[in-house]
Amino acid sequence: MKQYILMHKQTKTSGGNNVTKQIEKQLEDIQKVAKLNEGKNLKYSILTMGCQLNENDSEKLCGMIEKMNYTKTENLADSNLIVFNTCCVRENAEDRLFGKLGEVKKYKEEKGTIIAIGGCMMQEKHIVEKLRQSYPFFDIVFGTHTLHQFPTDLYQILCSHKRIEDILDIDGEIIEGLPIKRDDNIKASVTIMNGCNNFCTYCIVPYVRGRERSRSPKDILQEIENLAKQGYKEVTLLGQNVNSYLRVEREKQIPFEEYQGVHSFATLLRAVNEIQGIERIRFISPHPKDFTDDVIEAIRDCDKVCKLIHLPLQSGSTQILKVMNRKYTKEQYLALVEKMKKMIPNVTFSTDIIVGFPGETEEDFADTLDVVEKVGFEQVYMFIYSRRVGTPADKMENQIPEEIKHERFERLKKLVEQKMEKQNQKYVGTIQKVLIEGKSKNNDKMLTGRTDSNRVVILEAAEELAGKCIPLKIVSEHMWYLKGEVAE
Ligand code: 5AD
Ligand code: SF4
Repeated sequence: MKQYILMHKQTKTSGGNNVTKQIEKQLEDIQKVAKLNEGKNLKYSILTMGCQLNENDSEKLCGMIEKMNYTKTENLADSNLIVFNTCCVRENAEDRLFGKLGEVKKYKEEKGTIIAIGGCMMQEKHIVEKLRQSYPFFDIVFGTHTLHQFPTDLYQILCSHKRIEDILDIDGEIIEGLPIKRDDNIKASVTIMNGCNNFCTYCIVPYVRGRERSRSPKDILQEIENLAKQGYKEVTLLGQNVNSYLRVEREKQIPFEEYQGVHSFATLLRAVNEIQGIERIRFISPHPKDFTDDVIEAIRDCDKVCKLIHLPLQSGSTQILKVMNRKYTKEQYLALVEKMKKMIPNVTFSTDIIVGFPGETEEDFADTLDVVEKVGFEQVYMFIYSRRVGTPADKMENQIPEEIKHERFERLKKLVEQKMEKQNQKYVGTIQKVLIEGKSKNNDKMLTGRTDSNRVVILEAAEELAGKCIPLKIVSEHMWYLKGEVAE
């Protein structure tokens, strides 16, 4: 028989005291679960299925889970707890989740493994309904606004074995001070804002992550100062619309505490640039419309801010951009690129492109190819348009047939690869500052690192170089990586 505990549905918590209480409660529940699990040698696995924000959420989940006396394993069969952290930006993430759930069902049946499913996809009602109908063996379902309540959910399961759906339809508070277990010890991600107010017509994010809300400057800067003390060298500032940090708060006059002069994205970049020990700053994902002059000037002035700018294009056609609700034209995008090239020495660009958006004609697609030709991106993340239930584009009648989408995707890929080859050749013979990350995963005799422009460089050198940012001479180029030598 199915029994669900429905928690916190539609119960908006408001402000300071309540948040402190929520954190105290989670810390208490962490202790309670830790005690229950003591001496049992329990294991957990986590499957992260989304973007860098999703990965950062997984690091928070791992921090809480490890404090509750579980150790991590990659082996699902060995796990007492399996956590799925889902994404729903594109359709293939759904196929992956349902495929994996089919696989873990036997562990549930054989040894009673606890199955928890969280993240963006759980904010979609039709997905939770599908889970109830077709995969009713799950224990916990939690959404994006209730991730921090995972210890309470787990404690409930351990005590009562009743299934829990812990999903909140309205924006959760920003919760600080819970444990985090980071995947890397050189590079760290720091979420600076949650949610998105842009409502691009193809995108599900505003519906599952809610409205934009920024973390306080003090919390962010203290977190990065701590990372620097722990020896981290690179931070990536994360947000669905990262360069509109604190914009809503300023526009709607929502009070926030200014700290070290930080009241905008530009001032945040400048403040992070001052933190000793941090050598590189990246940020993802910005929106072209929010690259105001103060942001461009901060990128130019701050020596630690990488000069690779991610500038999501989505389409090169002004007509399609309009229907996508992107708020810029092809010409405005190209003008922004030119402006940045003039203002920021050595600037490079990466981008996201969607092919096969509803109504996209051959002419529209040619505009996309034209922008790729003109800008010379370092990296292009290419996506085939995927219909998302609940978005305006899903309801548009002029959907593009699958075979045309795929054919255009292949043409774009070919152009991108041709351009990349040319870009790669430009690196050979140059000196690049490379942050060495450690041993290469493919060849343990080699080290791997990245240039400012995020190109992978491999080199033969002693492992002690890991964590150092050093000049390398690029000696050869390959499609997906460069080879370097320590410069004399
Ligand atoms: N279909 C295909 N790609 C999408 N993206 C977002 N929504 C969709 C969709 N429905 C892409 C965009 C975005 C990136 C993170 O994912 O290019 O920038
Ligand atoms: Fe989605 Fe557009 Fe917001 Fe990016 S800016 S998360 S593409 S709605």
